[in-house]
Amino acid sequence: MSIDNHEFRTDRTSGQRWHALRAHHQSIDGTHLRDLFAADPDRGTAMAIESDGLYLDYSKQRVTAETMTLLVEFAHESGLRDGIEAMFGGARINTTEDRAVLHTALRALDADASPTVDGHAVGEQVDRVLHRMSVFAQSVRRGRLRGATSRRIEAVVNIGIGGSDLGPAMACRALAEASTPDIDFRFVSNVDGADLSAALRGLDPETTLFIVSSKTFTTVETLTNAESARQWLIDGIGDRGAVREHFVAVSTNVEAARRFGIAEENVFEFWDWVGGRYSVWSAIGLSLMIAIGSGGFRDFLAGARSMDTEFRTAPFEKNLPVLLGLLGIWNRNLLGAATHAVLPYDERLALLPAYLQQLEMESNGKSVGVDGEPVAIDTAPIVWGAAGTNGQHAFFQLLHQGTTVVPCDFIGVLEPGHLLAGHHDLLIANLIAQTQALAFGRTADEVRAEGVAEHQVPHRAFPGDRPSTTIMMDRLDPYSLGRLLALYEHKVFVQGWLWGIDSFDQWGVELGKVAAGRIVDEIRAEDRTVLPFDSSTAAQIGRYRRARAA
Ligand code: F6P
Repeated sequence: MSIDNHEFRTDRTSGQRWHALRAHHQSIDGTHLRDLFAADPDRGTAMAIESDGLYLDYSKQRVTAETMTLLVEFAHESGLRDGIEAMFGGARINTTEDRAVLHTALRALDADASPTVDGHAVGEQVDRVLHRMSVFAQSVRRGRLRGATSRRIEAVVNIGIGGSDLGPAMACRALAEASTPDIDFRFVSNVDGADLSAALRGLDPETTLFIVSSKTFTTVETLTNAESARQWLIDGIGDRGAVREHFVAVSTNVEAARRFGIAEENVFEFWDWVGGRYSVWSAIGLSLMIAIGSGGFRDFLAGARSMDTEFRTAPFEKNLPVLLGLLGIWNRNLLGAATHAVLPYDERLALLPAYLQQLEMESNGKSVGVDGEPVAIDTAPIVWGAAGTNGQHAFFQLLHQGTTVVPCDFIGVLEPGHLLAGHHDLLIANLIAQTQALAFGRTADEVRAEGVAEHQVPHRAFPGDRPSTTIMMDRLDPYSLGRLLALYEHKVFVQGWLWGIDSFDQWGVELGKVAAGRIVDEIRAEDRTVLPFDSSTAAQIGRYRRARAA
């Protein structure tokens, strides 16, 4: 296994296939997407794959059949197959934290076949917690769980940040149609008190359940919000003991949750082999399970599991996550695209860009390889985006005519999530039209042929040749959402592996956290001279203190 002899730490760009890819890029550079389509009338179907409710069309990427062959060979040469098996098998591929990476075990069916970590059978642990979650979710949904004053729960507030917020918040919004109408779901993440204040507005403490979601149970934003929520509850009910009935926790740090005042039987556990941004499948998904029910949550896991199976077994040239990952490598490293836009044409998926931002940028925003050496090539692009069609009236100008080429993922859902006539045709027509306009543009001659005045011609021509992938989902339900999210998780794995980085640590967020701690101490210090700061930082602290004192 390559993990043991550390072969996986080598710089992939020194291999033969990388050189072949670079040479190939030179040979096709300058070939417009218009030419690629003209040369092959079947391109639109030849470069599309459909699998279990997901349709992926990459024909509008600036690639040829040879590009794809070379990319797949590059993946093989880089030991991607071994890497995939190492992850699923429980190898400690998160090398900088010496941890296994087993979010896939959270959705595996066969507990007996799952790996062991530190002598514990992972599958057994997963089943136990999933069962506890199901019992709890049922009792909330059926109104059996009562608050301190015996009233049923009508609002669930998830307090968490990053991976302990974005997954359940995004999925609850995406699957709102399938959610129980009897419970109001709210999500609080920001340490800005405005977030918690807004979330609590209109809620009754007697009927509110808080889920404090924090892998570490040390995150300052979450603990600050949880403490304020606890106070709100105690003030509202007039009984300190009410915390027991109104707070549950999801954490790997059961002891810290207990110290906060949450009864041990109300702590839903997960494990350090689940990364925060990969944790929606764990007890971090408790709010989602309450919303869509235990059956819905299991469908969500089943969707992800089906993508896991595809990822492990499909030949790379037909493997959705591998293809998505390789196209990203092509755009980032050969075409030099610094950013990547995620454009869901479905309001239900409006939080998907934010979710993928964490997934991709926290995972692969690294500049040191797993061998401790600086990476030889660029890693994760800047991921951004917004739901269509809104983006068309905001930033699409730049996508079409700006000086920067931004590869895009367009994501559409074929079945609408509402009954309003006419909207969906327009929505999907816009999605398709944007991919067409980006790819083919409009030449100056075409503009002239429309009788446009000559001085306007350069402004109204579109260069085209702007790459995009289109993903169409048959419908948006727990199963298909599970597939979509697992698709992106594995895409990130593919890219991290090929870039030779550890996709599962996040040391880069630490410095700012430590600095914030020092600055808050300074702001609150009585003598006001706790630590020396640079002149800008000192001036900003001073400015804030003056405003605070006024
Ligand atoms: O921002 C860093 C980070 O550790 C994320 O990776 C994580 O999802 C988030 O903070 C929240 O952490 P926790 O779940 O431990 O509160």
